Amino acid sequence: MKTFKRIGILTSGGDAPGMNAAVRAVARVALARGVEVMAIYRGYSGLINGEIKPMGMRDVSNIINRGGTILYSDRCPEFKTEEGMQKAIDTCKKFGIDGIVALGGDGTFRGATDLTAHGIPCVGIPCTIDNDITSTDATIGFDTAMNTVTELIDKLRDTCESHARCNVVEVMGRGAGDIALNTAIASGASAVVVPEFPYSDEGICKRIAAAKKLGKRNFIVIVSEGVGSEYAPALAKKIQETTGVETKFARLAHIVRGGNPTLRDRVLASKMGTYAAEELLRGSSNVVVCEKMNKIVARDINYALILDRMYKGTLKDGDLDKFSEEEIAQMKADIEYKKSHLLDLFTVEHKINL
Ligand code: ADP
Ligand code: F6P
Repeated sequence: MKTFKRIGILTSGGDAPGMNAAVRAVARVALARGVEVMAIYRGYSGLINGEIKPMGMRDVSNIINRGGTILYSDRCPEFKTEEGMQKAIDTCKKFGIDGIVALGGDGTFRGATDLTAHGIPCVGIPCTIDNDITSTDATIGFDTAMNTVTELIDKLRDTCESHARCNVVEVMGRGAGDIALNTAIASGASAVVVPEFPYSDEGICKRIAAAKKLGKRNFIVIVSEGVGSEYAPALAKKIQETTGVETKFARLAHIVRGGNPTLRDRVLASKMGTYAAEELLRGSSNVVVCEKMNKIVARDINYALILDRMYKGTLKDGDLDKFSEEEIAQMKADIEYKKSHLLDLFTVEHKINL
């Protein structure tokens, strides 16, 4: 079995609350095993340019509660080139880094796969507010973002109630409606629009008009950004014209990506970080740490990436060639599980919200 002298940790892609808690866990577990830890700054950019410093037990103190990432993040197109990869490998040799824990989303995991193929074993930790990594039930940052959205909508509701208004609120999530569906339930929204399920402006206006007749004064409509940036402002106009309810539009944008991580994200990050460090040190590579049914497990990164493509309907010719029948069946089961979970949320929202 490979023995490690020095591992690196990096955070890459969009930041997510809880990344720091995961960095802390990885560092503490590795250091306790006598393995040196190097902080790699600005994701793959820092790996290419050698922005690297040793990390001790105390360097990760007082960060479990902090949002963003103390290692900073970056998007690094150069890393996708052979020259960029070669520079990254040279940096690893120069600094004696013989394994990496990479925190980020699917782009980060693609990079980790390439690094592993070039001889640097990598383990990924899924960090994104979007919860759009199908191999895990939850990603680090998702819970915090949902709680932030809920808190902000509670505030909007106060003022909507006072003025008998509607507020159309666009929330982040990239192509995934997870944040929108959950927060629609938690904030008692009058309607929710996500890319995963059909929606109609007429249906939404009817719902608002019917609730108005029942005496409702405040109306919140949550729109996931995945349906397109022009949709939510146009819907706000339409609601006002059709129902006569004065309607405002708010795009919450990056404000929901910052802030102190929730307890749930701190615990998830601590569990995933611990598992990731142990997994790397026991010789695993090219795996991503996932939470399935409340249990932390490791999944092959290639499996996770192709599963996402299958879920999004973007499989390319030959994508499934490397997988056994059992693995393909498992992918289909993972997708069914995810879809039925989202459908449950959508159904509950429709049944109980006015
Ligand atoms: P996320 O990890 O949140 O999905 P990105 O898609 O921006 O964020 O990816 C983060 C970084 O990972 C990119 O800036 C790039 O350096 C690296 N990366 C993304 N896609 C690939 C790829 N196909 N091959 C190698 N590296 C990649
Ligand atoms: O993936 C996280 C996320 O915040 C998405 O919800 C959003 O679509 C995107 O990143 C925004 O990216 P950027 O920070 O580059 O504007």
